Amino acid sequence: MTMHNMQDRTDALSNFAGNLSQEILQAILNPSTCSPTSSSSNSLHPTSPSPAEQPAVPVRKRSKTKEGIIMEYIYFGPGPAKLPKEVLEQTQNELMDLQGTHVSIMEMSHRSPEFTAIVNGTIEKAKKLLSIPDNYKVLFMQGGGTGQFAAVPLNLMSRTGKADYIVTGSWSAKAHKEATKYGKATMVHDKISKYGSIPDPSSWKLDPEASYVYYCMNETVEGVEFQYIPDTKGVPLVCDMSSNIFSRPIDVSKFGLIYAGAQKNIGPAGVTIVIVRDDLIGKALPICPTVLDYAVMAKENSLYNTPPCFAIYTMGLVFDWILKNGGVGEMERRAIEKSNMIYNLIDNSNGYYSSVVHPSCRSRMNVPYRVKNDEDLETKFLKDAKSQGLLSLKGHRSVGGIRASIYNAVLPEHVQKLEAFMKQFLANNP
Ligand SMILES: Cc1ncc(COP(=O)(O)O)c(C=O)c1O
Repeated sequence: MTMHNMQDRTDALSNFAGNLSQEILQAILNPSTCSPTSSSSNSLHPTSPSPAEQPAVPVRKRSKTKEGIIMEYIYFGPGPAKLPKEVLEQTQNELMDLQGTHVSIMEMSHRSPEFTAIVNGTIEKAKKLLSIPDNYKVLFMQGGGTGQFAAVPLNLMSRTGKADYIVTGSWSAKAHKEATKYGKATMVHDKISKYGSIPDPSSWKLDPEASYVYYCMNETVEGVEFQYIPDTKGVPLVCDMSSNIFSRPIDVSKFGLIYAGAQKNIGPAGVTIVIVRDDLIGKALPICPTVLDYAVMAKENSLYNTPPCFAIYTMGLVFDWILKNGGVGEMERRAIEKSNMIYNLIDNSNGYYSSVVHPSCRSRMNVPYRVKNDEDLETKFLKDAKSQGLLSLKGHRSVGGIRASIYNAVLPEHVQKLEAFMKQFLANNP
């Protein structure tokens, strides 16, 4: 709308509205600037408005059953995964006009001061949540976890041309295979024929000359999670934390590099967070693509090229949500409570439900299990679960069975509903 048209419309409305207050008139002309969320706050990530202030937003994931009961749908997908309700509501409220800028986050220039503030604020929140030491850089990259399978060797292998890999599931296997393109990538233990355990560290043949030791802390497909940080005797440790980052406190100083795709615990797909120690930056192989070069990304504050602005912004909101909900310590407490609900039920079901993962490395984030080892019964389980509002519980195609992904945004009360359903299903289908 031109200024001229705008004035015409204002005049016409003023005549029509007679004694309507200026405030109401403004609300008619430009509802977004008058909404409670776009108030005069200076912060680009303000705290969410109280429920009383919330503008009416369409509520989803609820419907009425035949009996008239309001049913909430709970999403247990492995990634992209459930986001906190408050974060979705805030993104919805701010989508047309980010904090009175009259521009959507999807339209805003990545070189604008507003977006620079978002990037810097998001880095600060990540540092606060994980107590990241000053000698580490936080980068926001693209290409997902799979991009990092290549970026890690391309940036870190030049020191000795070789690296060690601990392979405990599908994702570390893929990372290992990718690394063989760029140097000598050695698996430090015998190949595991069926994933579900971690070879004893005393059996690992670690090479003191390796440029780094790589592992995946939580194997999303098989539900295998390390409950300790491997001791690499001084060789830089690299970790894929795509599916459990920010679910527990971590001593970052024990790692050379940590990375995670956002789409499980911390945001929408499109951004990958990389936390890398300063001394490992700047040694990329000459063939390393510029967008995967940690030195370039660190120098440009992750703004070398157009970043995934919406994903970074939403990740910042998720960090706010974690901070508001007690930080990673509280996320860990909840993760233990939630996963124990399901594992205890499995263990007390006389084999009706079963897990192939060794109890010492059962994941708190992804709980795969079988129902009587019976595919037909599992199909019924998934159908019945869906009718109760419990969505996306199918196991990965390579493993089958059921998988409940219970990331941070899946709350204890959500897992209680799954637990109750599992008990009922057992009773109804002995
Ligand atoms: C642990 C882990 N690493 C890496 C990946 C690959 O991530 P992306 O699909 O973002 O490339 C995934 C994807 O699910 C994952 O769970």
